[in-house]
Amino acid sequence: MSDSISHTIHVEGGAQPVFDVAASNPIARDVPPSVLTIFGATGDLTRRKILPAIYNLAALGLLPDQFAIVGYGRSAREEADLRASLKSGVQEFARLPFKEEIWNSLEGRIFYQRGAYDSAEAHRELDKRLDEIAKQFNIGPNRMYYLATPPEEFDSVIEAQGQIKQQTRSNGQGEGWRRLIVEKPFGRDLKSAQALNALLSKYFRENEVFRIDHYLGKETVQNILALRFANAIWEPIWNNHYIDHIQIVVAEEVGVGRRGGYYETNGALRDMVVNHMMQVLSLVCMEAPVALDGNAIRDEKVKVLRAIRPFTPQQVAQNTIRGQYEGYRDEEGVDKGSKTETYVALKLMIDSWRWSGVPIYLRHGKALAKRATEVVVRWKDTPHVLFNNQVNRVKSNMLILRIQPNDGFALRTNSKVPGAGMEIRDVQMDFDYTESYGGESPEAYERLLQDAMLGDGTLFTRRDEAEVAWSIADPILEAWQSRDVGAPFVYPKGSWGPDEADEFLVRDRRRWHQPQILPPKKGELAAETSAIQVPEVKPEAKAEAKLEPESKNGSSKGAPQPEQAGAQGAVPSPAPLKPQAEGGPK
Ligand code: BG6
Repeated sequence: MSDSISHTIHVEGGAQPVFDVAASNPIARDVPPSVLTIFGATGDLTRRKILPAIYNLAALGLLPDQFAIVGYGRSAREEADLRASLKSGVQEFARLPFKEEIWNSLEGRIFYQRGAYDSAEAHRELDKRLDEIAKQFNIGPNRMYYLATPPEEFDSVIEAQGQIKQQTRSNGQGEGWRRLIVEKPFGRDLKSAQALNALLSKYFRENEVFRIDHYLGKETVQNILALRFANAIWEPIWNNHYIDHIQIVVAEEVGVGRRGGYYETNGALRDMVVNHMMQVLSLVCMEAPVALDGNAIRDEKVKVLRAIRPFTPQQVAQNTIRGQYEGYRDEEGVDKGSKTETYVALKLMIDSWRWSGVPIYLRHGKALAKRATEVVVRWKDTPHVLFNNQVNRVKSNMLILRIQPNDGFALRTNSKVPGAGMEIRDVQMDFDYTESYGGESPEAYERLLQDAMLGDGTLFTRRDEAEVAWSIADPILEAWQSRDVGAPFVYPKGSWGPDEADEFLVRDRRRWHQPQILPPKKGELAAETSAIQVPEVKPEAKAEAKLEPESKNGSSKGAPQPEQAGAQGAVPSPAPLKPQAEGGPK
């Protein structure tokens, strides 16, 4: 990035404040009345995400008038206490400014019901209460149930609610719908995911189950579909003839914080890769759907996941890196000898006509240098180096989708520097959501809650998606658990992960793309090409530049990349990486 030049493209039509969405959004009027029950009402998820999202929907006029919320939990709580705690959560976490009148319109519709998760009697009590509340607010028979509990409670709630659903239907009272929103994790391996799905399908049809992966609710993730399929320019070059490789990075600055207990039994692969990152990968790599409906889109996503080459234990050692940040073992709830990974890097291959030979590198970690989620599509070098004296200046083209923060995308191409001679520099064209559309994008949970109420499952994980993702993860988890695999490599907090992860790519004559440190500043990087700004060179950008020649036109030319040869079926063995067991904790 060091010597790239940025300028911004403006969207024609100028800024559109997102706050107008209610007025202009026809679906706002179509959200049917319902009572929402939140199991796990006193937990963090309800306070930090669900209620703030509901508040935002209310503020935007996207909630129906006939709507009520029943919080369900095991602890003894006064309704007033729950309301007060949710109010402070909304004040702290809601995207839109807090307004008493909006909160007041919601508060009187929030109730608390205490009960055990595994008591059929308690669930029947709840059902009666829901009917009373529905009557009070003229809501009718629609019921939405949100499983925001720890996953250990899922089975009890599904079983109890499933039975009630069956009984009401056989009583002839089963008008309206009953839908279930399930928060991840959907199991912790293929077997448990299948068991969870089997239980769900015993009582609920697939279109009544909404498995939330909040990444799908992010505007920038949905924009992958728009960018790819609303534009004609990408499709001809979105394949192994032109693309060298793809990187997906989800870097988090924070450590595990107070979630050490949960994290310790899960780790980075289960927490982020098997769900959020697989979702992003499938959107980036799927074929065009035959229609823009939920099943057509998800059919294509599943096909990509199915085409991911499964690992043998030997391949796990060659194609994965685990890391753990320094100090993780001192976090609350974490074992002193923990081998749980807080960082993971993977190299996946998709065995399909489109992607054969194109590696997809995934990288995720906690306690890294910066919070950034990006997808980087890197095209191959030009077939012939015309600007021979500037081999290191002519860079392969890149599309960088900034999922978060600084939502938008950037396209890097090469250009002539004005003046005598033919000096080449790479320039960056930038699209920035905030600058182009104004305001802030809706939070993922807003969109997802609204879609669930509308019965639109497009942005939710379908049963087969969840299972196929686990079938990719299972061999990795099993190999990591085997006794001869050592502890993860330790990396310093605030770094970009273990050094071994860098070697991992150098071995393929590539390097990790460092997420952009500087967001394009409003005004400063204005549309006018004359106002060219050269961003400051960051230390990590210098590190990138060091590796540049290896992956560039010069040295890699002619020598087939391992994956290119692999496209023909014969994958030459890459230089073996140091086994992780030897590396052990540093
Ligand atoms: C959650 C994970 O699903 O996603 C967390 O459990 C993680 O560990 C979070 O921090 C990241 O979400 P976001 O939207 O902040 O990228």
